[in-house]
Amino acid sequence: MDADIRTAFEAALTYHKDFPKEGITFVDFFPVFRDAALVKKIVAEHATAIAMRGAVTGVTVTHIAGLDSRGFMLGPMIAAEMNLPFVPVRKAGKLPGKTIMAEYKLEYGSAKIEVQEDAVPKGATFAVVDDLLATGGTMTAAVGLLMKAGAKVDATYVAIELAGLGAASKVGAPVFAVSSVTDE
Ligand code: PRP
Ligand code: MG
Repeated sequence: MDADIRTAFEAALTYHKDFPKEGITFVDFFPVFRDAALVKKIVAEHATAIAMRGAVTGVTVTHIAGLDSRGFMLGPMIAAEMNLPFVPVRKAGKLPGKTIMAEYKLEYGSAKIEVQEDAVPKGATFAVVDDLLATGGTMTAAVGLLMKAGAKVDATYVAIELAGLGAASKVGAPVFAVSSVTDE
């Protein structure tokens, strides 16, 4: 990761204490999108990271998945940059047609995510994109869902990893982060 791009990216992030509820500090990456040049650089960094990993491992990524909803911001841009298909992993009940579902635990209760069956062809190998890795619950579920759908997951890519939560080791695929930040 280019140090200048990381510095500009981190400077654009904003922190919101006690949002959406008390005790949580929300890391907002929407302000990054006010700077088109920075967005292009972040997209290029992700695409380069995916391509470089492929050159080292010999594994060819065939599809990019993005997680509902903030993974829908960088995900399709990274896919277009790499000339690869983009596959949305959505919160349950939003996708038409035949879908495959996974359920995962939240701090309180559970959540369900889905992918369209025909978006995951036989032999597909995914790189999965989201904005943020916090507890890792969302990414872990998405990796599990794509595997349940019959795909391979080569690695996952997030713009921000919350440092100190140890989430990356739980995901079930390598996690690469543009930036590692603390929310305190
Ligand atoms: C946020 C964020 C990640 C996830 C990270 O999404 O965009 O997807 O939480 O948290 P975790 O690692 O603890 O699972 P959120 O569910 O708030 O929805 P959104 O993307 O639709 O805003
Ligand atoms: Mg999200």
